Amino acid sequence: SNMLDWQRTAFHFQPENNWMNDPNGPVFYKGWYHLFYQYHPDAPVWGKIVWGHAVSKDLINWRHLPIAMETDQWYDEQGVWTGSATILPDGQLVVLYTGSTNESVQVQNLAYPADTSDPLLINWVKYPGNPVLVPPPGIDNKDFRDPTTAWKTPEGKWRITIGSKINKTGISLVYDTEDFKTFELLDGVLHAVPGTGMWECVDFYPISKQAENGLDTSVDGPGVKHVVKASLDDDRNDYYAIGSYDAYKGKWTPDNPTLDVGIGLRYDYGVYYASKTFYDQNKQRRVSWSWIKETDTEASDISKGWASLMGVPRTILLDKKTQSNIIQWPVEEINALRTNATVFNNLIMEAGSLVPLDLPAASQLDIVAEFELDEQTVMRLNGAAVAYDCAKNGGAATRGALGPFGFSVLAHDGLIEHTPVYFYVAKGVDGNLETFFCADQSRSSTATDVDKSIFGNIVPVLKGEKLSMRILVDHSIVESFAQEGRTCITSRVYPTKAIYNNARLFLFNNATAASVTASVSVWQMKSAEI
Ligand code: FRU
Repeated sequence: SNMLDWQRTAFHFQPENNWMNDPNGPVFYKGWYHLFYQYHPDAPVWGKIVWGHAVSKDLINWRHLPIAMETDQWYDEQGVWTGSATILPDGQLVVLYTGSTNESVQVQNLAYPADTSDPLLINWVKYPGNPVLVPPPGIDNKDFRDPTTAWKTPEGKWRITIGSKINKTGISLVYDTEDFKTFELLDGVLHAVPGTGMWECVDFYPISKQAENGLDTSVDGPGVKHVVKASLDDDRNDYYAIGSYDAYKGKWTPDNPTLDVGIGLRYDYGVYYASKTFYDQNKQRRVSWSWIKETDTEASDISKGWASLMGVPRTILLDKKTQSNIIQWPVEEINALRTNATVFNNLIMEAGSLVPLDLPAASQLDIVAEFELDEQTVMRLNGAAVAYDCAKNGGAATRGALGPFGFSVLAHDGLIEHTPVYFYVAKGVDGNLETFFCADQSRSSTATDVDKSIFGNIVPVLKGEKLSMRILVDHSIVESFAQEGRTCITSRVYPTKAIYNNARLFLFNNATAASVTASVSVWQMKSAEI
């Protein structure tokens, strides 16, 4: 055991040691959820990457399995990089992944299970005809990676998309195939956005306009919209947009060009990258996985012997109320870890108040809360030009008439360390309210060599809705969801004092004018088997 062991998590997936990055090939196969991941078995820093592998019955408790694919071929000698799984109609599985060749050229390779009757999928075969795709003319050897799950074309072929760039324009190439061995490059691209740079880990999937279930990747039709997600190499964030897919042309168009991929909405306004979804036919839902990196120093990663987590998997649905964003929510299975509920109903928080919530321990929590600002105060208040920005306006300590208010998690008694997660409401000249959802890491640790950014963004709040948030706290990670998952923020924090039983939870209302009524449920979270 190690001095930094407290940073390990209780219900977030992580390997026993060394470096992890992107989730790969997530799939439900013969009763097991499989998670493969970019893994460097030799050190807690990125290097020659192989596919790590783990399985679960419930997406929460995991069993680690042997490395699924090693760097043992000329076409993946420098790394078995990110890829995706596709379930064929006969139930068989294929995987396409990027290999970094002996000459560091990015090529796409085909792999399949050695024994399809093995539900654990321990052994993998690489197709002897690999690579199945090399960079096409006009595409740089190092800008061609991360093939998606395949979906069906109207002609009954399979189609995939692969991120790239041309100059500074991020693009996604489209290929059709019948056998995953020979491919045809379509004219034009799925989509392109100038100025966004290299698109890594592109994801493309349908979402239903009405239904509460997720859709298998090939589903299309009048009740369906399509999401394009790209992980921007230049800015290290996952951006998405909702739009329409023309299956005949293999082209996608955003509903709102001002909120296009890479310039509009993000999956998460904190630390969140290289995510990948899969359709879970077991529970008819779309689930996304994401790599949550460390934001401490490489030296601390080396001394603790590991780096990175996976976020708690999230279900993804179209927001039926706004129709203009997705909602992301921790998979329901996580609720099974809840224990020792503490409930506070209609707690009135005066302007400028801080209330410690008395819990035996607060380093593993699930917090669900609703807030209502005092309506009289809100009505009386004069509107003003709204120019709030979570990152630039001083964080939780800077007070306005209607905020900030929320929770301080992983807090030390004297608040020498704490991470506030909060709403900040501003009244505009038109009398309308704008709501921001933020996480302030600036006082999260007395350590000086960790990231202390303040994260956040605006969150749409519709007429008649209360403000609501959910926060998952797990030692060195805090995942926060506003308005049922419209805006999400993942933080990595490294307190030195607010750890284990010394971690506390506070409710605060730092508004200067309005009181806030809070209703709160807090559960302690049991540790999962990982
Ligand atoms: C994203 C990424 C992918 C690549 C993999 C290599 O984090 O850079 O584009 O396939 O990681 O580990």
